[in-house]
This record gives sequence, C-alpha cells and structure tokens, in this order.
Amino acid sequence: MLSILLLCTVAVSATATATNHTHASPVENTICGRLPAVCNGTYAERTLEFVDDQALTGTLPPELGNLDLTSIHMWRTNVSGTIPMELSRISELTNLSISWSRISGTLPAGLGNLSRLAELDFYGNRLSGTIPDAISDFSELEELSLGSNDISGTIPAKLGNLSRLTSLYL
Ligand SMILES: *[C@@H]1O[C@H](CO)[C@@H](O)[C@H](O)[C@H]1NC(C)=O
Ligand SMILES: *[C@@H]1O[C@H](CO)[C@@H](O)[C@H](O)[C@H]1NC(C)=O
Ligand SMILES: *[C@@H]1O[C@H](CO)[C@@H](O)[C@H](O)[C@H]1NC(C)=O
Ligand SMILES: *[C@@H]1O[C@H](CO)[C@@H](O)[C@H](O)[C@H]1NC(C)=O
Ligand SMILES: *[C@@H]1O[C@H](CO)[C@@H](O)[C@H](O)[C@H]1NC(C)=O
Ligand SMILES: *[C@@H]1O[C@H](CO)[C@@H](O)[C@H](O)[C@H]1NC(C)=O
Repeated sequence: MLSILLLCTVAVSATATATNHTHASPVENTICGRLPAVCNGTYAERTLEFVDDQALTGTLPPELGNLDLTSIHMWRTNVSGTIPMELSRISELTNLSISWSRISGTLPAGLGNLSRLAELDFYGNRLSGTIPDAISDFSELEELSLGSNDISGTIPAKLGNLSRLTSLYL
C-alpha cells in the first residue's frame, strides 16, 4: 500500500500513485523507487518535494537518511508514522519541512546534529511529547514551526540561544 515515490536523478514527472507533483526543478526527475525501497544513485536533484499531494501515503522510510539531500519539503500529504531518527544522518540538510500531514510521535533528539538546519517545520501534524533541549543545537536555525500539533511542556530556555531565529510558530 505504500505509495510514496522517491524522486532521484534524471527524467519524469508523475506516476500512477502520486500524481502531479509540484516539483520546481530545472532538470527532469526520474522516479526510481517506491518508499521504503530507496534507489541507489547519484542525486542531481537534492530536494525531495511533494506539495499538495494527498495521494501520497505510507511512512517516512529510514532509508531517507541515506540520501544526500539538502531539502525535504512536503506539504499537505497523507504521509503518516514517525520521524525516522536516520534523518539525522543527512548532514547537509538545511530544510526539513513536512507540514499539514499525519506525522506522529516525537521529535527525535538525534536530529540535533543536523548542524546546517535553517528550517525545521512540522506544522500541522500529530507530533506529541516535548520540544527537546537539543533544539538549541541548531545554531543556524531561522525558522521553527511546530504549531498545530500535540506538543506539550515548556519552551526550552535554550531556544533563546538561537541567534538566527526569525520565525517561530509554536
Ligand atoms: C494533473 O495535471 C493534468 C495536466 O495538467 C491535469 O489534466 C489533471 O487533471 C491533473 N490531475 C490531478 C489529479 O490534479
Ligand atoms: C550503492 O552503489 C554503490 C556503488 O555502485 C555500491 O557499492 C553499494 O553497495 C550500493 N548500495 C546499495 C545499498 O545497494
Ligand atoms: C488520506 O487519508 C485519509 C485517512 O486515511 C483518507 O480518508 C483519504 O482518502 C486519504 N486521501 C487520499 C487522497 O488518499
Ligand atoms: C547524527 O547522528 C546520527 C545518529 O546518532 C549519526 O548516525 C550521524 O552520523 C550523525 N551525523 C552527524 C553529522 O554527526
Ligand atoms: C530553507 O529555509 C530558509 C529559512 O526559513 C528559507 O529562507 C529558505 O528559502 C528555505 N529553502 C528552501 C529550499 O526551502
Ligand atoms: C547560551 O549561550 C551562552 C553563550 O554561549 C551560554 O553561556 C549559555 O549557557 C547558553 N544558554 C543556554 C540556556 O544554553
């Protein structure tokens, strides 16, 4: 039933299961796998993007952590499940934005080692738990959006140490 598709290198635009991706890319993209199967290639396109694609279901596979991405952008999808800790391996990730979807569970503390992260956006999901102190490790963070979830507890004092933060939606 998994119907998330993974865009990699060259060629393509749409598929039978996930139609009409808005994917602003000068290169064409090829769909070379179905999540959780991950293709093993060279990624000319380093953005994984699914916008307004409610046909996109299934969960985020841990194998995403093997991709050499700079940006993950999903908005208004039917993707569910938890945030795989393996995402913390994508060391050059600057934008992690999965909003208005069905992501649940907690923010893995391990994400704190994504030192280049400028945007962390899980607005409009079903996340629970608290905001980990590790959030203060994102020294480059400009935008933090965690509103419209089930997150509770206090705002970590360390948030005040994020000197680049310009947008905060809690
Ligand atoms: C996808 O795009 C095509 C061409 O623009 C359009 O005809 C079709 O209705 C769109 N499908 C969906 C599901 O939006
Ligand atoms: C990916 O490709 C490289 C080089 O072609 C190969 O050495 C490696 O075993 C492959 N990894 C997987 C998981 O298939
Ligand atoms: C999204 O998921 C909901 C609940 O599982 C389902 O009712 C709905 O049909 C799904 N939307 C699409 C476009 O698949
Ligand atoms: C981040 O942490 C994960 C899991 O602990 C590890 O596999 C990964 O190599 C770390 N990445 C960096 C850039 O330190
Ligand atoms: C990444 O996030 C930053 C900070 O919010 C933003 O300025 C930038 O446009 C985003 N880049 C992409 C590719 O979304
Ligand atoms: C904020 O950073 C300053 C300077 O690096 C440090 O002394 C202070 O302990 C930090 N505060 C928190 C709450 O981490």
